Amino acid sequence: MKIFRRAALLAIAAVAALAVLPAFSATAQASSPQPMRIGVIGAGSLGGSVGRALVKAGHEVMFSSRNPDQLQAMAKALGPKASVGTPKEAAAFGEIIVTALPYSALQSIGRDLQPELRGKIVIDASNPTRWADGELYQQAMRDGVGATSARLLPGTRLVRGFSAVNATAIAASSEGRRTTLAVPIASDDQAALQVVAQLVRDAKCAPVITGDLASSRVFEDGTPIDEADTDEASLRRLLKLPRS
Ligand SMILES: NC(=O)c1ccc[n+]([C@@H]2O[C@H](COP(=O)([O-])OP(=O)(O)OC[C@H]3O[C@@H](n4cnc5c(N)ncnc54)[C@H](OP(=O)(O)O)[C@@H]3O)[C@@H](O)[C@H]2O)c1
Repeated sequence: MKIFRRAALLAIAAVAALAVLPAFSATAQASSPQPMRIGVIGAGSLGGSVGRALVKAGHEVMFSSRNPDQLQAMAKALGPKASVGTPKEAAAFGEIIVTALPYSALQSIGRDLQPELRGKIVIDASNPTRWADGELYQQAMRDGVGATSARLLPGTRLVRGFSAVNATAIAASSEGRRTTLAVPIASDDQAALQVVAQLVRDAKCAPVITGDLASSRVFEDGTPIDEADTDEASLRRLLKLPRS
């Protein structure tokens, strides 16, 4: 029952956000209406930074590893809102999932954890590389990383996010040690985009919505946007988007 109530609240929050925000706008809102459960799959540099920023924002985060014990000390230092588990446990725990993995690992995650991930918002930050991902890299370059991730994670509400910013810049922004970091995000799912935009704000970063999943091409590896690690006004200028 509890799970259904949370799912209903999440849906209401998303619909409410859509009602007050124009399409493709990321207009400010103070914080998420209620803490969410986030499952981080691939809690290395990037996933760890995003997860820690979201714990500090008051969300409950399960950090996962194939060897969860190695994350215990980090989670303990973060307090009761942080926990550790396997990737399967994190996929089951999260209402929202963050994937920050070597790109090829999305294949097994999408296949093996399909029941746990089905219908959930997945924020995918994973990037393919020529040297590590072979044929999958070629496919992603041809079809777009967004479309390729959506194919590898079937049945999810996929959002590309945190893929074009550096883990250290996320940490610095969330701790107020730099100007607020702009984070480009893209999805075919408008409601998911608004939920993720709010999570980006909760992490003390600034979401910049580029549009549908195909639009994530503009912030793929090798573009001027990738790891520009700049503020919202500069990112909007680079992307030729109107000012917020
Ligand atoms: N680092 C950045 O600043 C940054 C910025 C933007 C995007 N990204 C992207 O984020 C992804 C991760 O980068 P990273 O720098 O965070 O790498 P990382 O520090 O090496 O972390 C990768 C994590 O993936 C997990 N992992 C590896 N293979 C796995 C598998 N088969 N199944 C489940 N988990 C697996 C590892 O967890 P265990 O070994 O503990 O299981 C590890 O913690 C990459 O695609 C990268 O392009 C990184």
